[in-house]
Amino acid sequence: VAAPLTANNNDAPILVGHRGAGGVAPENTLAAFKAGSQSGADFVELDVQLSSDGVPFIFHDETPARTTNVEEVFPGRTNDPITSFTWKELRQLDAGSYFSANYAGEKIPHFDEVIDVVTGNTGVFIEIKSPAKSPGVEKVVADALANDAKWSKLERAGKIEVLGFDVASNKKFAALAPEVPLQQLTGSVPGEAVLADYATYADSFGTSYRGLDAAGAARVKNAGLGLGVYTVNSAAAVDASLALGAERITGDFPQQMKRHIAGQ
Ligand code: G3P
Ligand code: CA
Repeated sequence: VAAPLTANNNDAPILVGHRGAGGVAPENTLAAFKAGSQSGADFVELDVQLSSDGVPFIFHDETPARTTNVEEVFPGRTNDPITSFTWKELRQLDAGSYFSANYAGEKIPHFDEVIDVVTGNTGVFIEIKSPAKSPGVEKVVADALANDAKWSKLERAGKIEVLGFDVASNKKFAALAPEVPLQQLTGSVPGEAVLADYATYADSFGTSYRGLDAAGAARVKNAGLGLGVYTVNSAAAVDASLALGAERITGDFPQQMKRHIAGQ
């Protein structure tokens, strides 16, 4: 079991910038991770997948359609799996223009690039996204955290949590890196027996705040799991999440969450 995570201010909830700070900059780009880190989020969250030639990159969706200019660069491949692209191909895509012309030219980042833009006390929530499409991604992440100097420094500082929806993938990761905090995600809170299974390998549980109620929050706590919620994008949702005892709050506007919690 990993040591519990803490916010930079010990008594406060852990504030996490979703996809960096996907509400203020193009999601999962270095611009978003910089914005999330500079806003004082305790962590920035990213989604990691593997290219067809095995390179870990940061991207949420299963295809490039929504957030890149793929149709211009690779006509006809708009709805292809993002993991069917080589790393060299992925780097040719513009992942910023979909958000605003001000971000034209933002690239899909390599997994390691995020470390160079998170500053101060900001840590990283690493979501292993769609792992069935990225065979071996658990080992790539575990190896980076264990062997890469920059990643392992963050990990030793208590500034890393790994998360994912896929139970088999999470169990694989837990076996490879039992010392790394691990969060099991599901869209709603399951029953006691399933939560008890989660507690055998995970430290915390994360779900949509929309599906969370007092009974669900109590089941999570009774299973001995920490509680996280996503994607919290309003003051009312922050308040509701805190009232239910969530100590990890993930949202697209981390600066606004931080100000709200500070009463500003
Ligand atoms: O923090 C968990 C959250 O990121 C899960 O949802 O779809 O944004 O990856 P999604
Ligand atoms: Ca995610």
